[in-house]
Amino acid sequence: MTNRILAPFVALLLGVASFASQASGGGGLMESHVNLGDQASLQRGAKYFMNYCAGCHSLGYQRYSRMAADLGLTEDEVQTWLNFTGAKFGDTMKSAMAPADGAAFFGKAPPDLSLVARAKPGGPDWTYTFLKSFYVDDSRPSGWNNTLLPGASMPNVLWDLQGTQRAVYGQDELGAEHISGFQLAPAGRLSAEEYDGVVRDITNFLNYVGEPAAMKREAIGIWVILFLAVFTFLAWLLKAEYWRDIH
Ligand code: HEC
Repeated sequence: MTNRILAPFVALLLGVASFASQASGGGGLMESHVNLGDQASLQRGAKYFMNYCAGCHSLGYQRYSRMAADLGLTEDEVQTWLNFTGAKFGDTMKSAMAPADGAAFFGKAPPDLSLVARAKPGGPDWTYTFLKSFYVDDSRPSGWNNTLLPGASMPNVLWDLQGTQRAVYGQDELGAEHISGFQLAPAGRLSAEEYDGVVRDITNFLNYVGEPAAMKREAIGIWVILFLAVFTFLAWLLKAEYWRDIH
């Protein structure tokens, strides 16, 4: 009897749970496990971004000075190690490449990445998966293709770190060919785990850039929870004190 009454509720709960996990997974994306509290990772991500990505991509909503403050870097460190365009410390982080040139070189202007970690389905996991999904494709003008963004005009700029990723083909139930996996030949300068770390750092940095205020909000959140915990304890002490005479 109880089972029959409970069953619909259990089914509903399971349904909600599976929907929630699908929504957060974004469908076939790898989990990036980004962490805004990991400042060293954010600093490395900024370094990789400025070295490997900023030649083509701008962060038009982010200023060098704001990045310095949020990531615990000095003006000197930023201007020496992270700013290669001669921009002022207070300027936004624009790429040296004009969008029109980008469109001429790659067939498509490299988009501004300020909001990419928020705009894509799956959030930062999309960027993480994208950077791990390049494979050699001689039919493409750049020589590269990407399983997450088929026909992407971006080459795999991290290939010397990752290695040359090649598609392995398999057949589905209907006999159609599809990419079933990847293999590295030749291998890159980094091991697979090291490469994942680099991609995670870049994704962590772009996730920070997508919402710089989130960092402060999360830090304040911890104090709010602590305050509530202490307050609850005091309230409980007070209650015990009041009720002592009544019992
Ligand atoms: C040589 C120029 C170039 C470099 C360097 C480069 N990209 Fe790109 N990127 C592009 C182009 C061109 C596109 C547009 C691809 C398309 O839509 O077909 C793109 C697209 C993207 C997208 C998808 C954006 C969207 O809105 O669809 C992401 C994310 C991205 N790049 C991240 C990076 C990261 C991270 C790096 C550094 C590791 C990097 N890119 C380095 C040229 C570049």
